[in-house]
Amino acid sequence: MLAGRRILLIIGGGIAGYKVLETIRRLKDAGASVTPVMTRAAEEFVTPLSVAALAGSRVYRNLFDLTDEAEMGHIELSRAADLVVVAPATADLMAKMAGGHADDLASTLLLATDKRVLAAPAMNVRMWDHPATRRNLSVLRGDGVLVVGPDEGPMACGEFGFGRMAEPEAIVAAVSAALAEGKLRGRHVLVTSGPTHEPIDPVRYIANRSSGAQGAALAAALRDLGARVTFVTGPASVPPPQGVTVIPVQTAREMEAAVRAALPADAAVFAAAVADWRVEDARDAKIKKDGSGRPPVLSLSENPDILKAVAGMRDGRPRLVVGFAAETGDVLAQATAKRQRKGCDWIVANDVSPETGIMGGSENAVTLITPDGAEAWPRMSKQAVARRLADRIALALGEPA
Ligand code: C5P
Repeated sequence: MLAGRRILLIIGGGIAGYKVLETIRRLKDAGASVTPVMTRAAEEFVTPLSVAALAGSRVYRNLFDLTDEAEMGHIELSRAADLVVVAPATADLMAKMAGGHADDLASTLLLATDKRVLAAPAMNVRMWDHPATRRNLSVLRGDGVLVVGPDEGPMACGEFGFGRMAEPEAIVAAVSAALAEGKLRGRHVLVTSGPTHEPIDPVRYIANRSSGAQGAALAAALRDLGARVTFVTGPASVPPPQGVTVIPVQTAREMEAAVRAALPADAAVFAAAVADWRVEDARDAKIKKDGSGRPPVLSLSENPDILKAVAGMRDGRPRLVVGFAAETGDVLAQATAKRQRKGCDWIVANDVSPETGIMGGSENAVTLITPDGAEAWPRMSKQAVARRLADRIALALGEPA
């Protein structure tokens, strides 16, 4: 899968360093060659000897190691790779990258490279949440740095939250996606997926039966064609794919904000089953029976139509905007009208009547509606629908950037 691909692996100093050994093993198993670079702090967590043994390569540690003519210079080292991976990307290393520092070998290579950089952040949850790290992260993303993780969970320091380095499997998937030479290389595609949860009170919510399976399959198919994918997902029952940027949200309004924050994109696909209404006055405390026998009255208000808003953007509209239409009757007519009404380019229409078993099931039967007309696709797995749709998106966007 990664045969012959060259990875320059920059190892920062953090407790997550232990996972780097497994990551190197998996990268090698997948056929990649790994050239390791360790910061001074990294050596406090993993030994250069273990890293060298697993990588089957010498470990580069010191900027001044490289001044000898017999050695490879740092410019060459930074470029003799197909991808630069930073794992763990500590808060300090991220700050150096964002600030363009070059005061040791790792930061100098990161500044000198002309290759894509994939960072796997790992740090304490408070450091991750700190405004300085958030700023650095957005600078890095703006510079085109790819980011995998971090994950949420218990941390070595005893706290709980986001900051655990992505698992080796996820890092390898992100490396594969970054190196994919697919038809969507260099493209950014936004995908919304899953249901939304609209709170009634702190324990109850309004939701729908969407599993998020079609959106997740689509994000994976777009990733496999080399796209950089931002996956904005409500609380789905299917896990998000690896190697994409996952933005979890709960409500329609959160989804809208996340979508706007993720733009610009070359294409945007709205596969989410967004709740049309939210409870106008969601209560702060659990609603109790009052003994009167009269149920509470919930008044609803309409949620923002995210697809329509993005399709109608004057500035920064993605070149291709694709909506889904889940209908329970007269699918073609409903979906064709919906394409017009929402102002999107394509509609992927499907019949979600309970007897079709599509909502929450593994198959889908869709009709693609474009300005040129309607195309009925045979019933197939959601993965196959996703691959076909990703191919069509690549075709519509044209040659890779
Ligand atoms: O109007 P309807 O919900 O049938 O439209 C479905 C399409 O619109 C889907 O692509 C869905 O993701 C999108 N949508 C949205 N925001 C809403 C409602 C629907 O983006 N509030």
